[in-house]
Amino acid sequence: MPSPARAFRPRPGMVRAMSPRLPTQFADLLTPKGRRILEGRDSETRGALLDPTRPFIALQGVIDVKKAAEARDLLDAALRDTLVTMEDPIPEDSISGMVENYTEALPKTVRVRTALLESRRSRSWRAAEAVGLRALLRSDTFAAFAATVSGRPLKRGWGIQVLCYGPGDYTGPHNDHHPEEADARHGYVDMHVSLTLPAVDHQYLVYAKDGHFSELTRVSTVGGVTVYRLPFWHYTTPLSAKPGREDAARRWVLLGTFLDAAPGTRPSSTVLPAGAPPPVRAVTVGRGSGAGRR
Ligand SMILES: [Fe+2]
Repeated sequence: MPSPARAFRPRPGMVRAMSPRLPTQFADLLTPKGRRILEGRDSETRGALLDPTRPFIALQGVIDVKKAAEARDLLDAALRDTLVTMEDPIPEDSISGMVENYTEALPKTVRVRTALLESRRSRSWRAAEAVGLRALLRSDTFAAFAATVSGRPLKRGWGIQVLCYGPGDYTGPHNDHHPEEADARHGYVDMHVSLTLPAVDHQYLVYAKDGHFSELTRVSTVGGVTVYRLPFWHYTTPLSAKPGREDAARRWVLLGTFLDAAPGTRPSSTVLPAGAPPPVRAVTVGRGSGAGRR
């Protein structure tokens, strides 16, 4: 029988190697249903966003809830203290500066916290690297999921971002159109994974259909995946905490932003949709009767 003095005591380096990390592939978070979608075997979601009247798709039961909760708690512990606030309030002179009735105009307003993942010198970057978040968001299967649901070949080198909504945090109406950027002006794809703490009561995405903000979907999920074909008009409602639980009410959002791979893009620079027929001519959005219209 080993004496207590000889009991296993991990060295500091071993502790680090054994500290919890996220899976290195998005596929490792998925349920069997999620895998079917990733592999292009689910006819309802494969190429779902090629329909110009469908601006986004909200998927539940795709990420294993237990794994999502573990990932959420890991991120919350590692990144919570590294976040920076991103804030664009309603312009101060937006009322006092008006000289003509009914001419109010509202630019995009927002208040949310973000983890800076692009600068190696940021605390967020180091924390995200340590838990494997950057690797997860850069994984082939993360992009392949977006490509398969959107139905389009996507460019490698996609953008990644992490947002954290606390009580009262929101994003005002905006459309995410980037007409000045040649490779984004005809539309692009965003994929969001929501990881919501139990102290959150609700948060919704409101979006336009037939020219009105008439539609909404709950985004305060644990492991819900939303894939968007932007631009279209939408906003995110203020996050609401359960009574007395404001301190622990946070919704984390993991984001990938993907540009279309133009015809002729080298295969090594492209993420192809699984199970899709051979590439067809580019489809443009914004002309249908759907939510993308202004
Ligand atoms: Fe947006």
